Amino acid sequence: MTFSTDQFRLDDKVAIITGAGGRGNSIGRAYAMGLAAAGASVVAADINKDGAQSVADEITAAGGQAVASHVDITDRTSVEAMARTAEDAFGGVDILVNNAALMVEIVQTPAMQIDLDAWNRALAVNLTGALNCSQAVAPLMAERGGGKIVNQVSGGAFPASTVYGITKIALVGLTTTLARELGPQKINVNAIAPGNTSSDAGKSITPEDSPFVKMLEASIAMRMRGEPDELVGALLLLCSQAGSWLTGQVIHVDGGWIIRP
Ligand SMILES: NC(=O)c1ccc[n+]([C@@H]2O[C@H](COP(=O)([O-])OP(=O)(O)OC[C@H]3O[C@@H](n4cnc5c(N)ncnc54)[C@H](O)[C@@H]3O)[C@@H](O)[C@H]2O)c1
Repeated sequence: MTFSTDQFRLDDKVAIITGAGGRGNSIGRAYAMGLAAAGASVVAADINKDGAQSVADEITAAGGQAVASHVDITDRTSVEAMARTAEDAFGGVDILVNNAALMVEIVQTPAMQIDLDAWNRALAVNLTGALNCSQAVAPLMAERGGGKIVNQVSGGAFPASTVYGITKIALVGLTTTLARELGPQKINVNAIAPGNTSSDAGKSITPEDSPFVKMLEASIAMRMRGEPDELVGALLLLCSQAGSWLTGQVIHVDGGWIIRP
């Protein structure tokens, strides 16, 4: 088969994006808008009900197809309702982007100081949440002949040095495990590891004038911060026919963070 750029199109595909209703200029919003621009019908899912609705409205206003889903990804019943929303609105699911996470809440938390409830909550959202959504949605993908799962990990997992990093490196483990288990059903499972991204949440944890930012500016090959939209190209590759033979991989979109000295 000859390659065509049409392989990046997602017409007739249905995509669920969790964490799509984030704080203002969020990565989930960029992902939802990007997949819709490529032709997908989108379920914008978030525990933040108004945020999810406003992203769905934005897509619809731009001429795309979208509905909102109010979901808590740690709650199985809620996740199953999210999957039903996709089925009722658009007839099934082809793409799941596990983007919802706790980040601001735990990115500074040392493991030695976290209490057990907060530890369990961090893993419940950032790891078990992705498992819940994958278990709910993979059978629906298999019914349609295959699908794509993309897990949002983080440069902060390479190496993990906070509770947040621990949850994200564990999510890499879920990515490679599900890639092996779901490959025979033609479901690709990959991850994106963004570097420091200028979402409202990202900017709030690394203020421009902080010593951490200055240190990073001096050591990163290209650019310390990227825009949410700069992650969308990698997502499109992983969600489309163009990435048909890619599975079990982590794509680092980070201006060179992973190759820092
Ligand atoms: N911003 C960065 O610098 C950066 C870097 C690397 C990775 N990431 C990852 O990218 C993703 C998006 O980050 P962001 O910067 O847009 O942050 P964000 O806080 O705006 O987005 C996270 C979203 O997850 C939702 N969420 C939290 N708990 C939930 C639950 N139980 N059920 C459903 N939704 C829930 C939140 O409401 C929020 O909308 C996260 O996975 C984050 O870890 C961000």
